[in-house]
Amino acid sequence: MSRSGKIGIAIVGVGGIAASHMAALRTTASARLVCVQDMDRVRARQVAVEQACDAEESLDAVLARDDVDAVIVCTPNLTHEAIGAAVLGAGKHLLMEKPLAMSVDGAERLAALAEDRGLALAVGHSHRFSGQSRAVRDVVASGEIGTPRFVRVVMNGGWIWPGWQAWVLDPSVSGGHSLHNGVHLTDLAAWWIGEHPDRVFAAGQAVTSRALEIADYLVIELGFPSGASAVCEVSRAERPRRASYLELMVVGSEGVVTRSWDADGIRAWLEEGLSMWAPDGASGDVFVAEIDAFAAAVRGDAPVVPAVADAVDAVRVAAAAEDSLRTGRFVHLEGAR
Ligand SMILES: NC(=O)c1ccc[n+]([C@@H]2O[C@H](COP(=O)([O-])OP(=O)(O)OC[C@H]3O[C@@H](n4cnc5c(N)ncnc54)[C@H](O)[C@@H]3O)[C@@H](O)[C@H]2O)c1
Repeated sequence: MSRSGKIGIAIVGVGGIAASHMAALRTTASARLVCVQDMDRVRARQVAVEQACDAEESLDAVLARDDVDAVIVCTPNLTHEAIGAAVLGAGKHLLMEKPLAMSVDGAERLAALAEDRGLALAVGHSHRFSGQSRAVRDVVASGEIGTPRFVRVVMNGGWIWPGWQAWVLDPSVSGGHSLHNGVHLTDLAAWWIGEHPDRVFAAGQAVTSRALEIADYLVIELGFPSGASAVCEVSRAERPRRASYLELMVVGSEGVVTRSWDADGIRAWLEEGLSMWAPDGASGDVFVAEIDAFAAAVRGDAPVVPAVADAVDAVRVAAAAEDSLRTGRFVHLEGAR
């Protein structure tokens, strides 16, 4: 930690999403970017010049630095477990981009390592930090709509093509769409319902091309121990390409909270009619909020968000969804809490 009290951060993997973290680090007072590293060394050096930080040639060199308190890992999903284990093994705090790992075993290994070492392990479930997701959670937590029974999360769009990197299309590197994007939606559903799912069903289509090995249009259905349920729908294949549709809904025993297509705010409906309307339902600066929360956890001032168990569970659910896509069957989750 620097004399200014800022957490010293290294970023490993300086591709697409790293830009969002670097922009947040330029803004926040809680942390500062010390160095970057990428297997593409030329790119790492270019980014280091742009960000006025150092470029390191290897992960070992990053981890040997005393001014690096924590590492944000922004590399393809397949690399997460090995890089995460090296980071935690070196005694550095870790903000891992989602998903935590490609397998439940891998996610559990990282969680155990962080716990053994007493290190903060956060996973980049960035939607947890959007104003609208938090507003929905606040309405649910207020008790106004009663007990949550059903959640619908829709995140559809057409913007991703042709921008998706080849590795995302390769399920052996990305884990498939459930692990790559589905985790965002299922994590929100579980967070709002307040339970971990115990059964999962998924249906997918390869809309852009039948040759695709991942489902670019995906629906994941979740069941929870209380009997509550959720439908999570994610697409990256819509036309026109600029299409972007977000819908959030929690149905409770006493009312409904929605954030819909034609409303920027969050609305809660009870028998008496519209109960509350929070116009501040916009996304806000999600990545600043995520890094500030991580820095607070590194300092020991707050628990990590999401809880490590939730991030492990997101991997468990996504792996089950991919399984369901293959078999066409519901998957019952063992070890669901
Ligand atoms: N939170 C979000 O909303 C969000 C959005 C997009 C991506 N992501 C996640 O961020 C991660 C990166 O995705 P992206 O879209 O930025 O990918 P990307 O392909 O744009 O960038 C990945 C970078 O990692 C580098 N790299 C690959 N293997 C490496 C290794 N072993 N060591 C060092 N560098 C390595 C590549 O050279 C590249 O520069 C993924 O885990 C993805 O799931 C999260």
